[in-house]
Amino acid sequence: MSTMKLDEIRAAEARLLLSTYDRSPILFAGGEGVYLIDEKGERYLDLLSGIGVNALGYGHPAIVDTIARQSRALIHISNLYFHEFQAELALRLTERTGLDRVFFCNSGTEAIEGAMKLARAYAGLRRSEGKKIGTKFLALEQSFHGRTLGAVSTTFKQKYREPFGPVVPGVEFVRFNDVADLRAKFSDEVCAILVEAIQGEGGVRPLAPEFFAEARALADSTGALLIVDEIQAGMGRTGKWCAYQHYGIRPDVTTLAKPLAGGLPLGAVLCTEEVARVMHAGMHGTTFGGGPLACAVAVAVIDTIEKENLLAHATEVGDYFQQQLRGLAARHDAIVNVRGKGLMVAAELDSADLAKAMVGEMAKRHILINCTSDTVLRFLPPYILERKHVDEAIKALDDIFTVQAAAVSAAHQNAGGNSLG
Ligand SMILES: Cc1ncc(COP(=O)(O)O)c(C=O)c1O
Repeated sequence: MSTMKLDEIRAAEARLLLSTYDRSPILFAGGEGVYLIDEKGERYLDLLSGIGVNALGYGHPAIVDTIARQSRALIHISNLYFHEFQAELALRLTERTGLDRVFFCNSGTEAIEGAMKLARAYAGLRRSEGKKIGTKFLALEQSFHGRTLGAVSTTFKQKYREPFGPVVPGVEFVRFNDVADLRAKFSDEVCAILVEAIQGEGGVRPLAPEFFAEARALADSTGALLIVDEIQAGMGRTGKWCAYQHYGIRPDVTTLAKPLAGGLPLGAVLCTEEVARVMHAGMHGTTFGGGPLACAVAVAVIDTIEKENLLAHATEVGDYFQQQLRGLAARHDAIVNVRGKGLMVAAELDSADLAKAMVGEMAKRHILINCTSDTVLRFLPPYILERKHVDEAIKALDDIFTVQAAAVSAAHQNAGGNSLG
């Protein structure tokens, strides 16, 4: 057990870690339900759940008991042998996603790597069968698919890609929801179109149904793959197992991670039987992916989501959350848009400075939220969130917006009624 205090930890990390993160100065030591608990015992309402990971909150008995039982039985064996839980989990995932086969890995970015490798290999197979199909990927502006070289090549923000160049060549970005741009950039040079049904980091932006349908149709027209990244929106967060199910679209490949194993690292690539025929033993693999501990917990997570009826619950509480945010938007001009699906919710503000300040002000009130895409307050709470927690968050937001508006108005008066610019 560490005896270091927050200040000592900050100093040690500043000296010892690569400076990749800009952490908030809070030291968490525990969690219970929808609350995180810091080292002083103070509780924080967690509306971010480890960036969309802790779907069942903290300390859920289904997870804790499974970890205790399975860690005594077997933590790791490698993929050279069988264990009980990959097949159990694959059965559940294929039934719920509508796809046929699974590959397990450890994270979102690895799932994207697997999906991209599948697309390249499948295109190669089709070429060997006499089809004309290239190696290019189309991804979308504002996309986020991860940090490894392949995934970051399909991630839009330049600041994530540029320092590591040259990234994987052959990726072109299509303007978000721009059907004409998609048509113009698509050709038989493309092996896959990669989309998030609802962009997460890009600001909780849902694909327009006509854009999604066109992507499906274009891919079908040449035998290119439609890959839907469900790492953030999938596994029930939007009220369905996969966000693409709201559109009635079946992708060729999908990726899952974040909440899949309730907080343990686990990712999955799923594909159709047709695509799966390209893979054979030794072509792709991982040491840790799909281990017995993570898979046993993922089985428990899925069974618990169903037993506790959490898909319907996420829809119901998510709708309530959006409705309450719309009420706030009617009172505060700073909120320019409210959107989302289920418990993937966003309030877009009119100022990046204000959005950043809101995250800090909410943390002072012991409520954890996040700002993405500069101006978007993002809420990715555990699926067990209740209306009373939404009310608590809305009250805090209301108070902060009221104080902010008063400050702006006072500044306005001091400036003699002139615009602050
Ligand atoms: C849509 C999406 N894809 C991929 C990733 C990458 O996942 P990971 O951080 O587990 O590598 C993320 C992470 O935020 C994501 O939101």
